[in-house]
Amino acid sequence: MKIGIVGASGYTGLELLRLLALRPLTEVTFVTSRQDAGTPLTTMFPSLAGHGQYDRLKLEKPENLAGRAEIIFLATQHGVAMSLAPALLESGARLIDLSADFRLKSAELFETWYETHKAPRLLAEAVYGLPELYRDSIAKARLVANPGCYPTSIILALAPLLKNGLVDLSRPIIADSKSGVTGAGRSLARSNTFCEVQENFKAYKVVGHRHTPEIVQELANLAQGPVTLSFTPHLLPINRGILSTIYVSLSQPLGMSAFRAFYQDFYANDPYVRIRPEGYVPETADVRGTNFCDLGFFPDSVAGLWKIVSVIDNICRGASGQAVANLNIMSGAPEDLGLTGLSLRP
Ligand SMILES: NC(=O)c1ccc[n+]([C@@H]2O[C@H](COP(=O)([O-])OP(=O)(O)OC[C@H]3O[C@@H](n4cnc5c(N)ncnc54)[C@H](OP(=O)(O)O)[C@@H]3O)[C@@H](O)[C@H]2O)c1
Repeated sequence: MKIGIVGASGYTGLELLRLLALRPLTEVTFVTSRQDAGTPLTTMFPSLAGHGQYDRLKLEKPENLAGRAEIIFLATQHGVAMSLAPALLESGARLIDLSADFRLKSAELFETWYETHKAPRLLAEAVYGLPELYRDSIAKARLVANPGCYPTSIILALAPLLKNGLVDLSRPIIADSKSGVTGAGRSLARSNTFCEVQENFKAYKVVGHRHTPEIVQELANLAQGPVTLSFTPHLLPINRGILSTIYVSLSQPLGMSAFRAFYQDFYANDPYVRIRPEGYVPETADVRGTNFCDLGFFPDSVAGLWKIVSVIDNICRGASGQAVANLNIMSGAPEDLGLTGLSLRP
């Protein structure tokens, strides 16, 4: 299968290449970067050297891409995919967009949180690429909107409860999330330099982070009704990983075994969601470099709520690993092709 990557000089591009190197029957036919066009891929990323295919590739400008790949990953900032998608789809390619361009179903909502949408007619067609919820639609999709990293950690943590009507929707759900610095991408930003980040821990966009409407859209779909969410992101001084602690009130009392059973049933056929043993608190190091989402459950009887701890690797499960799972589903391959690795620990 011929694969192209637009935005291959960034972190999610690099992670795609790392994962695709482990996937049989995959030929990467082009990789793009505007600023580094002409640079050999293995000069940009020496870690990729020694993989025959990658040794021969050069980064090129994102032009004249039509007809050169069957599936194209768009690993670019928001705003790019919606400009490129109409022509690439017209040329017959299927697209997996890692940005936010096609995640929201409403063009008005997109305009409120981002900018005016350039391809609003494609929003209805785009399939939200969370395999556990939309596997059948992903298989047939021309355009997959790969979920955001924070949303992946939060939606997977709440889906079984919401789908089974177990959440007290009169109270807000609180999601307190912490991400490693790669979540901000590879381009330079003063607030993400080593001296600003190491030995430090900070919240940011405490109210109004752009992932909020995406999370709410999917939680409301699951609940079949309005959901109130308070979401706070934080920056961790680590490279990879997201840990979300989610506080949720239930609509009926549930014991631990009944609570766990809802999750075990819901994710019975999902290879990437691991329900951790009772009492174990999931850690980011357990999922580093993998496509797993690990979940742990903790009743807080004093406060009258449950705490759910959810961990993922933001670049793998939160972006490129999930995108490769979507590639597998779209191409009829086993869903875990190229994704069976365990975390690198310590
Ligand atoms: N990092 C994460 O953990 C993560 C998780 C989930 C989702 N995402 C999403 O995935 C996307 C990529 O993230 P990233 O972290 O890989 O970003 P990044 O490290 O900043 O890389 C962005 C890539 O896009 C290219 N690019 C930028 N503007 C472009 C344009 N106008 N036309 C064509 N190419 C362009 C860049 O190369 P040139 O500038 O040289 O062209 C670069 O290769 C973003 O939308 C991000 O929100 C990221």
